[in-house]
Amino acid sequence: MDSNIAPSQPSVPTVVSPPMLQNEPPAIAARTVNVFYGEKHALKDVTIDIYRRQVTAFIGPSGCGKSTFLRCFNRMNDIIETCRVTGRITLDGGDIYDPRLDVVQLRARVGMVFQKPNPFPKSIYDNIAYGPRIHGLTTSRKELDNVVEQSLRRAALWDEVKDRLSEPGTALSGGQQQRLCIARAIAVSPDVILMDEPCSALDPIATAKIEELMDELRQDYTIIIVTHSMQQAARVSQRTAFFHLGELVEVGPTEEIFTRPQDKRTQDYITGRFG
Ligand SMILES: Nc1ncnc2c1ncn2[C@@H]1O[C@H](COP(=O)(O)OP(=O)(O)OP(=O)(O)O)[C@@H](O)[C@H]1O
Ligand SMILES: [Mg+2]
Repeated sequence: MDSNIAPSQPSVPTVVSPPMLQNEPPAIAARTVNVFYGEKHALKDVTIDIYRRQVTAFIGPSGCGKSTFLRCFNRMNDIIETCRVTGRITLDGGDIYDPRLDVVQLRARVGMVFQKPNPFPKSIYDNIAYGPRIHGLTTSRKELDNVVEQSLRRAALWDEVKDRLSEPGTALSGGQQQRLCIARAIAVSPDVILMDEPCSALDPIATAKIEELMDELRQDYTIIIVTHSMQQAARVSQRTAFFHLGELVEVGPTEEIFTRPQDKRTQDYITGRFG
């Protein structure tokens, strides 16, 4: 399913994976980002570029600041009273901490999927329709129906729920609920999808489905995943960033990070010596 392939071409499976577009400008650029919770210095001088059409994995021991950093990208830290963010983060070149920026719009552009699936206490349909409704993205019921269907299809959930759209989202299995949350994020056409340990509450089969889905979605979205599973990072990501005690220790192509890490702390972590 690649819309870039012209229909006149023979049906040879040419495009396997998108090229690494590191010479394109990054989707997100973070420069000397520091985060404090009161006196606690949780993230220290983090500078990183995040590229489009790739999955970037954030790995590192518990408490190293992965979730804190992820929340910087859609300003979810704004809602934590003690939290202070300094430095500069741009999305497509625009400063996301610009005081004139509409945070609601930002969060539509930068969607988030959490560790525990958190469908709204509404029907499956209304879970997906919620965002397009509040952002006024559709003008008719037919259009909205279409967005709901397409979002559920993209999240590989449509076939399982198409006959029960009015049932509550919470009635689905954990893995289905997580795909519902991904569909909900997709429904407002985001640029970036942030996933904070999206599979940690799921069984291996549901996990495999989400991983497959991420590989599919990266054709169109910039994806960042936080994971404690190094196997998962290796399977789903093209770039990996290793954090330790609030510092970004190193970032690079996933294969290099796992086979030839530059820093001893990365080496120790990936070989299971700590964390
Ligand atoms: N709301 C908060 N108030 C105060 N301190 C916080 C808050 N959230 C996180 N911290 C602290 O900031 C540091 C980074 O936490 P964060 O949750 O970002 O780590 P993490 O890498 O996501 O860990 P885990 O792998 O356990 O999820 C930790 O020392 C944590 O205790
Ligand atoms: Mg975390």
